[in-house]
Amino acid sequence: MCGIIGYIGEKNCVPILLEGLRRLEYRGYDSAGIALIKDGRFHIQKKAGKVSDLAEAIRLLDGTFTATLGMGHTRWATHGEPNDANAHPHWDATKKIAVIHNGIIENYAAIRTKLVRDGHTFTGKTDTEVLAHLIGVMYEESKDLTTAVRHALAEVEGTYGLVVLSVHEPDKMIAARKGSPLILGVGEGENFVASDASAIVDHTRNVVYLDDGEIAVVTREGFRTVTIDDVSVTKQVQEVTLELSQIERGGYEHFMLKEINEQPETITNAMRGRLLVDQGNVVLGGLRHVMDKLLCARRFVITACGTSWHAGLVGKYMFEQIAKMPTEVEYASEFRYRNPIIRSDDVVFLISQSGETADTLAAAREAKAKHATVLGIVNVVGSSIARESHGGVYIHAGPEIGVASTKAFTSQLTVLALITLMLARARGMSEADGRVLAEEIASLPDKVRAILRNTETIKAIAHEFKDTPTALYLGRGANFPVALEGALKLKEISYIHAEGYPAAEMKHGPIALIDEAMPVVVVVPKDAIYEKVMSNIQEVRARKGRIIAVANEDDDEIEGLAEFVIRVPRTYGFFGPIINVIPLQLLAYYIAVARGTNVDQPRNLAKSVTVE
Ligand code: F6R
Repeated sequence: MCGIIGYIGEKNCVPILLEGLRRLEYRGYDSAGIALIKDGRFHIQKKAGKVSDLAEAIRLLDGTFTATLGMGHTRWATHGEPNDANAHPHWDATKKIAVIHNGIIENYAAIRTKLVRDGHTFTGKTDTEVLAHLIGVMYEESKDLTTAVRHALAEVEGTYGLVVLSVHEPDKMIAARKGSPLILGVGEGENFVASDASAIVDHTRNVVYLDDGEIAVVTREGFRTVTIDDVSVTKQVQEVTLELSQIERGGYEHFMLKEINEQPETITNAMRGRLLVDQGNVVLGGLRHVMDKLLCARRFVITACGTSWHAGLVGKYMFEQIAKMPTEVEYASEFRYRNPIIRSDDVVFLISQSGETADTLAAAREAKAKHATVLGIVNVVGSSIARESHGGVYIHAGPEIGVASTKAFTSQLTVLALITLMLARARGMSEADGRVLAEEIASLPDKVRAILRNTETIKAIAHEFKDTPTALYLGRGANFPVALEGALKLKEISYIHAEGYPAAEMKHGPIALIDEAMPVVVVVPKDAIYEKVMSNIQEVRARKGRIIAVANEDDDEIEGLAEFVIRVPRTYGFFGPIINVIPLQLLAYYIAVARGTNVDQPRNLAKSVTVE
């Protein structure tokens, strides 16, 4: 959620921290702050608003704000509104210790009450300030910063990725992780802490992934890691393969538009080396060792949140209709608290772009505790869900920076299509039939390219409907989740109310909303239920709704019914969502641009929801 960066070395760290925060801003962007230690004193600047507001405040300090040890934070508010006081870093009572923190300290109220009783006063409303005071209290007892952090963390419940600095020990940073990702960046005479690699990748590619319950003591020369109980832990240094160009806008006005346009490549990357078109088959190294479990499973369960959950809904169609595997799909946030009936012969798939979503991770742990086989379909390599799963398939979409997920969705669907084909073949589908499906999958990038080449109609529709207060999205079968996804994209970035509905369900309620002002986006490919959706369109038309159809290139009937038609190439039914969603991503994007909203950083949202 929030972003963390820390630096210790020989360079002036202010530009390093600000640049890191700028790269992390997609994770949370309602306030930001920096703490430096110089000449035995703390220098702290923090501000509500964007990293650019913080950078301006620092610029006005006219070069006096420099140091070789410091940390920065960009926040997505959980406790306390986004204002200067609640921005991180936070002090302890003596102002000798400062803390930045991602996550939630769940028992902070009880700790705060106790501290207030002992005479502490607080300037803001955050759980982090309480944690900082607690570390301060522990320091008074132990006179050792690492011990103080260990003792404080032993008392807290909840999640954290945090960095602690103190003028008592101005030669180190203390970092700790539980439930909120944190990595160390290992350099030459300098070291880093960050909540994700994008913040530090132009300084070092050598990273150490901290695990839950680990504390790192980072100095200029190196680092050591211990558990909360002070047991030493040996960590592996790993190389990240992230390219800088992947986390830059590369000439596009927004990351979201760049990521929409990347989809021909990202879909190709998802299938690269895995799809064997000639053999009509698929190889997935991350599933090889669980093939027996997959083939003997009683059922599949897919659990995820948001857009990834929509991918799961499409996955159900693929798994059941093609691979003949009974599949249930559930929101991870519901699954984790429902005490679901899970058996050891169930296979539970977790779909997550970030691999860090708190609810999805908790669902993975719940399923593991119940002895199911747990498999991740994840984008971020080395993320918590990827590491805690028994196996899985990376989607290889590259960093997704736009808060509204686009390329991750189509890559998730591509991977689901690959798993489906692999299982269908293993369960007896003929090579010839497999080849037909493999050719369909292989054709997807070119079909996406064709849509991206021709966006004039979508721009015109966006212009026409940019002021609508509401919109309805309809689809049936595997395209019902596409309707949900189209509506979600519109809500997220344009703040227009939108609902996705199964087209036939409309007459059981939402039809009451339809009048001559209501835009109704209908996904109507020429598939087995085409005629049924056409009837639903007639129902909208009879009530004078304004129909925007996403229809195939060879559909002549639709022109007479819809006011606007967006053409998409014909695609095999259950893979159609990978194609049909592209115009809906673009429609949401162009409407948001026309309304002047902040497309990449929509209000109240953040990438990677690491709180429940
Ligand atoms: C929507 C969006 C969110 C995420 C959801 C799950 O555009 O981005 O709905 O899909 O927060 O995130 P991941 O996939 O990282 O688990």
